[in-house]
Amino acid sequence: MSKILITGSAGQVGGELLSELMKQHSSSDILLTDISGLERISDEYEKMILDVRKYGDIKKIIEENDIKYIFHLASILSAKGEENPMLAFDVNMNGTHNILAASVELGVSRVFIPSTIGVFGPEAKKDNTPTWNASRPRTMYGITKFTGEFLMQYYFERNGLDTRGIRYPGLLSYKTPPTAGTTDYAVDMIMHAARKKDYICYLKEDASLPMMYMPDAMENTIKLFNAPAASLRYRGEYNISSFTFSPGELAQAIREFVPGFKVEYRPDYRQKIAESWPKSLDCSDAIKDWGFKIRFTLKEMIENMILNMRQ
Ligand SMILES: NC(=O)c1ccc[n+]([C@@H]2O[C@H](COP(=O)([O-])OP(=O)(O)OC[C@H]3O[C@@H](n4cnc5c(N)ncnc54)[C@H](O)[C@@H]3O)[C@@H](O)[C@H]2O)c1
Repeated sequence: MSKILITGSAGQVGGELLSELMKQHSSSDILLTDISGLERISDEYEKMILDVRKYGDIKKIIEENDIKYIFHLASILSAKGEENPMLAFDVNMNGTHNILAASVELGVSRVFIPSTIGVFGPEAKKDNTPTWNASRPRTMYGITKFTGEFLMQYYFERNGLDTRGIRYPGLLSYKTPPTAGTTDYAVDMIMHAARKKDYICYLKEDASLPMMYMPDAMENTIKLFNAPAASLRYRGEYNISSFTFSPGELAQAIREFVPGFKVEYRPDYRQKIAESWPKSLDCSDAIKDWGFKIRFTLKEMIENMILNMRQ
């Protein structure tokens, strides 16, 4: 039977995507891979070590498991990428190119690769940033993810490979802690509030960024993945976002549920990354082409996260 391969499946998005896919598939339809961390995933699933920098290993896994669909999540995110640009370049560029080239070579039907708001640079419009707007990213993460979008377009036009992707904003989840991104403070802040602890934030109080609750991100990922090919005008560059908030605004919204919650602001190198990104996105292309829609407001998300974190 044809299978779905997920790379980077032990990461923050991997676990959540798996839950979403399991609404329509059985565990035998899915092969989970990562370079490490697979022990955190239930043994109910088939799991294999895969370093996406190794082209031969990717080909072997696709061939031996009759892989039809790929969700390529393996990546080095923004903050870790600035600490180790060589690694970010290697994993994000070579990993993405290997997945696309092997998919062409072995006839994979569809490949989903998430992109990011990090593809925009400081020259882009800060508010309501459109799909194509002065994309001169300044982080290694942004440079590699932007190039990934071009590679998706390249193999679509050259070989007809059905490539699809979304530029995720900062994603918030109560299930899997984030590890290496610039927007991670938001989950951490809510986690501290849920435990009634004060929080020290590494961004400035007014550093506004686009964000989204994980269930909305996953539902829309599957929606785009299943959308009719003819309705898509873009490959990897669909902007999506639910709302924009700054650390100060998030702290204020949290106080409705945790009165007296205290935050101190001590910006570090991640503030510069945040300043180079848009504050809000124009998502009209995603709405028009494949029906992008969200369920959770900021207030509903905070309430839902605190409730689940406390449980
Ligand atoms: N989480 C967010 O807020 C966010 C926002 C925008 C875009 N994205 C995108 O979503 C995707 C998944 O992100 P995430 O948040 O799950 O990241 P993550 O850092 O939580 O997980 C990435 C996974 O990739 C794995 N990995 C690293 N190097 C590898 C290699 N050489 N071979 C195989 N696996 C390797 C890691 O072990 C990790 O489990 C990425 O493409 C990222 O750019 C995430």
